[in-house]
Amino acid sequence: MAHSHTHQHLGLVHSHDHHHGPAGDWTDDTARWYAEKFGDWPSQALLLEQLGLSEGVVLVDVGCGTGAFLRMLAARVPAARGIGIDCTKSMVDLARAKTESDAVTLHEADATALPLDDASADRVVFLNTLHHLSDPSAAMREAVRVLRPGGQVWVGTDEDVYDMSGWTNGRVRDHLSGAGLGRIRQTSAHQGDVVLNLLYAVKGG
Ligand SMILES: C[S@@+](CC[C@H](N)C(=O)[O-])C[C@H]1O[C@@H](n2cnc3c(N)ncnc32)[C@H](O)[C@@H]1O
Repeated sequence: MAHSHTHQHLGLVHSHDHHHGPAGDWTDDTARWYAEKFGDWPSQALLLEQLGLSEGVVLVDVGCGTGAFLRMLAARVPAARGIGIDCTKSMVDLARAKTESDAVTLHEADATALPLDDASADRVVFLNTLHHLSDPSAAMREAVRVLRPGGQVWVGTDEDVYDMSGWTNGRVRDHLSGAGLGRIRQTSAHQGDVVLNLLYAVKGG
């Protein structure tokens, strides 16, 4: 992995989005480009390590991209079930082509309308995704809907992504508390020059 290219490539993600608007403008081309550059990215392993999951966990990955995080989950956590959501058809197609595990299910769907039952998940994660959403507040409310009481939302954002998107830990925190989540905690992890900011919070009840 060429970490020295981090800034340049993440910059391209954002310049694309700034010029063409958010989320919905992911195309076949940007999906392929993203898969090549970030399909396997240190933040995925960093998030999984920090989550500290136990056997049998049901985890929803919103904006799952090519599904690398979910494949890692299936490989490392016994009996885990991973559900990937992404609104970009070409991303979901790539994810399906790369994923063999029966433990992973992939859906082409919007973050604001998850095709999942109320209180059906233990964890919902947004990895380098919340800042892309056109309605992050609605997406966070939807995450809370599908969580079981005591379940957790985790938001992971690379430091570079904060630098280029203007997002901050404070803004993520506001979304977590705005959706009614409590016990908000913050940490970070790094590998090489990739720094992942993490905030997580618990659904009460
Ligand atoms: C920067 S990528 C992150 C992918 C993956 N989480 C990772 O860490 O490699 C952001 C993803 O969010 C997806 N996305 C953007 N807006 C979305 C929305 N409204 N609903 C669902 N997915 C969305 C995009 O299609 C893209 O795959």
